[in-house]
Amino acid sequence: MKLVLATSNKGKVREIKALCEDFEIIPYSELIDEFEIVEDGDDFKENALIKARAVFKALNDENVIVLADDSGISVDILDGKPGIYSARYAGAGATDKDNLHKLIDAIKEKNVKSSSAHYTAAIAIVTKESQYSVHGWMHVEVITKALGDKGFGYDPMFIPLGYDKTLGQLDDETKKRLSHRSKALNLAKIILQTL
Ligand code: IMP
Repeated sequence: MKLVLATSNKGKVREIKALCEDFEIIPYSELIDEFEIVEDGDDFKENALIKARAVFKALNDENVIVLADDSGISVDILDGKPGIYSARYAGAGATDKDNLHKLIDAIKEKNVKSSSAHYTAAIAIVTKESQYSVHGWMHVEVITKALGDKGFGYDPMFIPLGYDKTLGQLDDETKKRLSHRSKALNLAKIILQTL
């Protein structure tokens, strides 16, 4: 089954490919030119559906199945921020590093060394005649320093519950087992098997 990913985020593409080995996964940017998608939904689910619908329409091929991931971090001491704005927390065009350091600074401003937080992943699947969405979550403690260089995005400051290392230090297999994305993809795979 050919599955087109509505993302070109290298970290996400790598993780989704590793988690969906039974499927032929193609990032949409290998089929058409990348284009800007305005993610103006109110939550992760809406934004995932917006991305999947936009790429399905642009591909102009009724036979494809498009899968989109919208994800982010919600930090309790920051009242759930950055949430759906995780990718642009440090402004439009911000890099993963810019966002990570802005989040560390924002938590430090609260005069704490850590906070509880969670990752959310919403996965949307769009075909010619159907649209689905599922979610996965991972609860963590965020610290005010960046440790390790594995994973991507905010991973170097995230310590999963029950661990004493960040996702930047833990191996890929551990993240694969625990992650918000793998939980959502395990549900998405059930839907994909029925299509
Ligand atoms: P999106 O591409 O619009 O869904 O933005 C996702 C944002 O959340 C990006 O800033 C990512 O770096 C961050 N993010 C999502 N999932 C993860 C993850 O598994 N690890 C680290 N950062 C993540």
